[in-house]
Order: sequence, then C-alpha cells, then structure tokens
Amino acid sequence: MKEKIQEVENILCKYGQEHLLRYFKELLDEEKENLLDQILSIDFDLIASLYKKAINHEMNENQQDLQPLKADEWDAIANQEKEQLYDIGIKKIKDGKTAVILLAGGQGTRLGYSGPKGTFDIYLPSHKSLFQLQCERLINISRKCGTYINWYIMTSHVNHDETVQFFDDNNYFNYPKENITFFKQGMLPAIDSNGKIFLQERGKVSMSPNGNGGCFLALKDKGILTEMKKRGIEWIFINGIDNALVRVADPYFLGFAVKTGLPSASKVVPKKSPDEKAGILCYRNGRPAIVEYSELPVKLAQKSDGDGNLIYDNANIINHLLKLEVIEEFFNYEVPFHVAHKKIPYLDINGNIEYPKEPNGYKFESFIFDIFSYVFDMAVLKVRREEEFAPVKNKDGEDSPFTAKNLVLDLQKNWLINSGINSKLLHGKTVEISPLSSYNGENIDKELIRDKLLRADTILI
Ligand code: UD1
Repeated sequence: MKEKIQEVENILCKYGQEHLLRYFKELLDEEKENLLDQILSIDFDLIASLYKKAINHEMNENQQDLQPLKADEWDAIANQEKEQLYDIGIKKIKDGKTAVILLAGGQGTRLGYSGPKGTFDIYLPSHKSLFQLQCERLINISRKCGTYINWYIMTSHVNHDETVQFFDDNNYFNYPKENITFFKQGMLPAIDSNGKIFLQERGKVSMSPNGNGGCFLALKDKGILTEMKKRGIEWIFINGIDNALVRVADPYFLGFAVKTGLPSASKVVPKKSPDEKAGILCYRNGRPAIVEYSELPVKLAQKSDGDGNLIYDNANIINHLLKLEVIEEFFNYEVPFHVAHKKIPYLDINGNIEYPKEPNGYKFESFIFDIFSYVFDMAVLKVRREEEFAPVKNKDGEDSPFTAKNLVLDLQKNWLINSGINSKLLHGKTVEISPLSSYNGENIDKELIRDKLLRADTILI
C-alpha cells in the first residue's frame, strides 16, 4: 500500500487536491484501499479542464444560433406506407442487424427513490416494474421476428448490483439471460467553486454518474462496440428507463429511419408547455441538435406562432436510433460536457457532513444526444404523446408514477374501444393489457375481454 499512497499523493499534489487524504489516517485498511482506488480512477486532467470551462462560461452552448426543425408527423403517414415501414423494420431485426441499449444508470433523485429506477412499480394492477414493462415489449417484438434482440443495459456504480440482482430474482422476466448484457457507465467527481473535489465521507470522494452520454465511452471501454460490429449490428435503438410507454425496438421507427437513408433518428412528441422539462430537437449552427431544457433560453422556449403554437415544439422522449458507424465516428471528437451548479452535500473541515441551502459546486455530465450534432442531418419522427410518453420523473404531481399509470391504462382503454368493445362496458372497470399480448394495440381478443368484463372489475390480459 505504501507505493500506492505515494502515487496518490503525487497526483493530488500535482492537481492541488491534497485535502482528499485529510482523514486518511483515521480510516480502516479496507477503507484506505477503497479511497486510493477511487482517487486513482479519476481523470484529473479532465476535471481541471472542465472546471476551467465552467468558470469561463464555455459550456452549455446556449449562446448559439438555434433554428426550428420540422419533424415528420406520424399522423401524416398513410397507412399503407406505415405497413411498409413496419416490414422494413421487422426484416432488419429478423436479420440480426439491431441491438437495444437501455440507459438506466441515473439516480432517480427527483423521484425520491433510492433503488434503480427500473425496479420502480408504478402501481399498475399487475405491479410490473419499469424494467419488466420494457422487457415484455422486447419479448413481444422478438417473438414477431423469431429472434431475441441483444439487450444492453447501462447501469452505474450507484445501482449496478441492485439492478443485476433484480433481474436475477425475477428470472430475467423470461428474456434469455445470454441476450442481456449489463455494463457500467463511468463516474465523475463533484467540485466546489474553487475547483476542489468534494469528499462525501472521510473515506469516499463525492462522485456521480457521468451522464447518459457516458454510454459511448463505456461501450468502447467494455469492448461492446467491437462485439456489436462482429455480430453485424447496423442499428442501435437507445431509450431511457423512465417512460412507462416507451416503444422499445419499434419496427415502424426503424423502418422510418432506414427509409430516410439518414444515419440517426429520434422520436419527439409535441411539447406540453413552454416550461416542460424536456430537451428540444432543433438545429444548432445548422446541425441537428437537442438543446436540453436547462439550456434553452426562456425566450425561445416561449416563442410561438400567430396561432399560439410553440415554435420549439419537438420534445425529446429519449427514443433514438443510431447507426453503429456514427458512434465509431464520434470518438474522433472531444466529447462535450454540460455543467450544473448544484447543492452538493460535503464534509466540512471538522469532518461533519454539510447540506448546503444554496448551490455550492459543480457536477458535470455528458448527454447522449450530443452525438446528433456530429451527423450532417437526422430523421425526426413526431409521434402521439398519449401513445408513447408517460414520464416517471417526480414523486408526486406531474410526471409521477400516478400520472404514468393513468396514461398506460387510458391508452389501453382506447385500444379496447378501437377494437370494438363498447365504452359503456368499460365504465368503472380497470383493464391492464400485458405487453406480451399487445405491443401497440394489436391482437386484442374482444370476446375474451367482454367475457371477463362481465365477471370482474379489474382484469389483467
Ligand atoms: C431527459 C432528457 C431530456 C428529455 C427527458 C424526457 C437527457 C440528457 N435529457 O431529461 O432531454 O426531454 O429526459 O423524459 O437525455 N441516465 C443514465 N446515466 C446518467 C444520467 C441519466 O443512464 O448518468 C439515464 C436515466 O437513467 C434515464 C435517462 O438517462 O433513463 C434520462 O435521465 P435524466 O438525466 O434524469 O433525464 P431528464 O433530466 O428527465
């Protein structure tokens, strides 16, 4: 350990971060080892350069030239063409040309839930977790294609073990285990306004996941990109964990992307209100880009046309498609980071934990969608909000588990009505349709449901 301590001391001295060993002598041997390893995992050059950019206001590109982008409307596509898109998408999946990445490394702080967000039960009658809903949608598509799609689940240091355990405890929701790969994203330390890294505990640096854009680096570092290439993967679906209606591996979307001939695509929905916490897909300096809600100037967020429609209306729902080659190309550039000025708990000089009332430091994250600005142009599909977006962000109120549950059940009720079930029969009843039975309203067994509705108030199909 002596040599390791010396190595760490040299690094800390070089970067002016010696305070990280302030309590070192008080630690148990195991704690000492952990702290040294944690410090050795930090890219101090990166932190120094991010700090410099943050204080010089060189991050969060809100000063740039933004222009609206016209998305293709799902509703404007003729039924016959939709079927064609579906066939194209199904064929690509059948041919083994696709993979799915689930971004599940986030912390779920706003939700007030300390476990992995994917394990959250949004109070559906079945009590299925967000992970299970996504998994069953994948099973549905896999069955339609006669092949299981490889599913890559990104976790982070804060939730990896619990995530893997949850899948294991639930027998991987009947998805073949060999088709699921868990991989951890990286972490970055939080710093104070003088660029000093915070200690979270006497033997622990304050670190958090490096943003969902950390996905690309992790894919490369863990050899997953190489593996995907060997497998002949062309297209990668990417989606977040916190949308209870997300259409995982949607064949229509893939068909749409393939048909445009462009190497990346994203689904958007109409923005609910100017202050909705959603990134906006537009052009930035002539390139497609998503501008995060925290970085979109209020004036532009509120800008509307003569009829009161928002001009910047393409709300990001984290449902993206990327060609593998776009990810490979991305490594030729410096990955952009975003800074957030936050209230960060820290150990004070006496070793007591402080919870600041005002922002006291910086956290850095990279965003998955920054990759879009490295392609010349991209395909954008505007879908129906009520069909594809049920965000689970907050504990109560808007975008909460409760609103998400209602959105799922309301949509499914519409499926039943559209399939010919009389809405009067559904009055006062709750019907939950498993994604194993129906992906987007197809395959509704009217007779069976009518029969069950006569016997019970809550039914699960
Ligand atoms: C995100 C989007 C926003 C979009 C909104 C829609 C980003 C950067 N922002 O904002 O544009 O309109 O969702 O719901 O995509 N995650 C990780 N690792 C991390 C951080 C996050 O895997 O280090 C994952 C989360 O688990 C989640 C997704 O990324 O699946 C988005 O997380 P979060 O950063 O909470 O998103 P929002 O701020 O809601």
